[in-house]
Amino acid sequence: MESGFPREAVATRLLTASVRTSYEPTVDIDWAAPVRPGAYWLPPERSSLYGTPLWQRLGEEQRIELTKHEAASAASAGIWFETILMQMLVRHYYDADPTSRHAQYALTEIADECRHSIMFGRLIEATGCPVYRADPLDHLLGRWLKATATGPQMYAAILIAEEILDAFQREIMADESLQPLIRMVSRIHVVEEARHVRFARDELTRQVEAAGPLALNYARLVVGRAAYLITRRLVHPRAYAAVGITPAAGRAAARANPHWRATLRWSAQRVLDHLTGLGLVAGPGRLLWVRAGLLDR
Ligand SMILES: [Fe+2]
Ligand SMILES: [Fe+2]
Repeated sequence: MESGFPREAVATRLLTASVRTSYEPTVDIDWAAPVRPGAYWLPPERSSLYGTPLWQRLGEEQRIELTKHEAASAASAGIWFETILMQMLVRHYYDADPTSRHAQYALTEIADECRHSIMFGRLIEATGCPVYRADPLDHLLGRWLKATATGPQMYAAILIAEEILDAFQREIMADESLQPLIRMVSRIHVVEEARHVRFARDELTRQVEAAGPLALNYARLVVGRAAYLITRRLVHPRAYAAVGITPAAGRAAARANPHWRATLRWSAQRVLDHLTGLGLVAGPGRLLWVRAGLLDR
């Protein structure tokens, strides 16, 4: 029986908040609204190519088009992460006490993610962009992770994905110059994800306390790999082809772009500080954070 007071208290609060503020994106968003001419889909300075010579060569319309494809790429990645997350939570629920608020909140979060993935699918459809799928190796790694991950690395990976996307979306929802559709999608996601972040942080603290040194070392590696994968996967290289830039050239320019590196660090700062505080950014796993460009040597 999982009746530890704080764990149940957190879940009870989150369940109440879920009843109070939840969205049904298929009806709460006007999917037929026309696109606003001349509006970006992301703040231009958050484009992975912003400030590069390739960016200078693009006209205004092409810059807007690139941010649209970057947004569609992030939505594609969001669906992929959420599918992995949903299966991890279902596996967690399989062993939990179904009468506990904790287990019931896990199901509520899965229900949120079901609606989010439908919302992101509708967003991609509305942009007319392709679904930017993970490459076969990452797809396979994701399949392995969603089928096996437990313990600290599971909640840490969830937090990395949720908090990085959250940083971008908080900025988007507040920026009135951007496309109304991406702002509304971001607002819905930010509101509901705040609960998920609270749940994962709480659970992660407990898992770290319960883990032995061997499990923690393994967790640090998986956590570093997750940070690396998520930051690399945000902008799919094929998105650059939409504005006449070859995927290889676009990816190389983005990786070398100090603006983009600063954007990635900015988006990951909060979760990096949190995981560092828990001792999860250390050892060989820390090198993966360095390789992802999120930490200096
Ligand atoms: Fe979500
Ligand atoms: Fe979430």
